[in-house]
Amino acid sequence: MAEKRIAVLVSGGGTNLQALIDAQGRGELGGGVLAAVLSSRADAYALERAEKAGIPGYVVARKDYPSPQAMTIALVEKLKALSIDLVVLAGFMHILTEEMVEAFPNAILNVHPALIPSFCGKGAYGLHVHEMALSYGVKVTGATVHFVNEEADGGPIVLQKAVEIREGDTPEILQRRVMEEAEWKLLPQAVSLFCQDKLAVEGRHVHILP
Ligand code: GAR
Repeated sequence: MAEKRIAVLVSGGGTNLQALIDAQGRGELGGGVLAAVLSSRADAYALERAEKAGIPGYVVARKDYPSPQAMTIALVEKLKALSIDLVVLAGFMHILTEEMVEAFPNAILNVHPALIPSFCGKGAYGLHVHEMALSYGVKVTGATVHFVNEEADGGPIVLQKAVEIREGDTPEILQRRVMEEAEWKLLPQAVSLFCQDKLAVEGRHVHILP
C-alpha cells in the first residue's frame, strides 16, 4: 500500500490537528503522513502546533483572494504541488467551491461537531453548532466525520459518536465534551481507515472494510 500524504486545513486553535499529530506519534495513522498544514489565518494557533511537530505550515488567507472560488483554486494548486492524497478539514471555517471536490473526489474528510443531519450546513460552525443544539433542547449530540461533496456538510458519513448533554451545559462546556469524547477520537480513526484503503464509498454509504 502506497503511503498517503495528508494535508490538514485549519482556521483556529487546531485541537483536532493536535489529535492527528498525537496519533501519528503513536503510530496510529494507518501509515499516513502529516505532510502539510494550510491555514486560512496567519495567526491561527494551529500553525504553532504544526511548527512544533515539524510539519510545514502555509497560509492561504481568504482576504488575499477576490472570491471563495479563487481561494479554493489557490488551495487546490498548493495541495497538488505538495502531492497530497488526503485533505482533512479540521476546524476549517470556509466553504470550499466545487473545484476542491473535483480535484479530490472522496479524498476530503471533514469533522463536524454534531450528529449530521442535525445542526449542520451553512452558518453551523464552531461554537454556533453547540448553541443550536442547546437551544433546541436535544439530550444527545455528538460529532461526525464525513467525506466532503458539493453540499455543505452533506457528504457520505464515515463515523459518528454520540455525546450526552447535561443539565447546566454552556456552549463552551459542551464543545469541550464533544471534542474530548468524540472529535479527537473519531478524526484520527477515520484518517487511519482512509490511509489503509478501508473506506469504500457507495452512493451515500461508506462501508468500512475489514
Ligand atoms: C471543532 O469543534 C470542529 O469540529 C469545528 O470547529 C472546531 C475547531 O476546533 N468545525 C466546524 O464547525 C466545521 N463546520 P479546533 O481548531 O480546535 O480543531
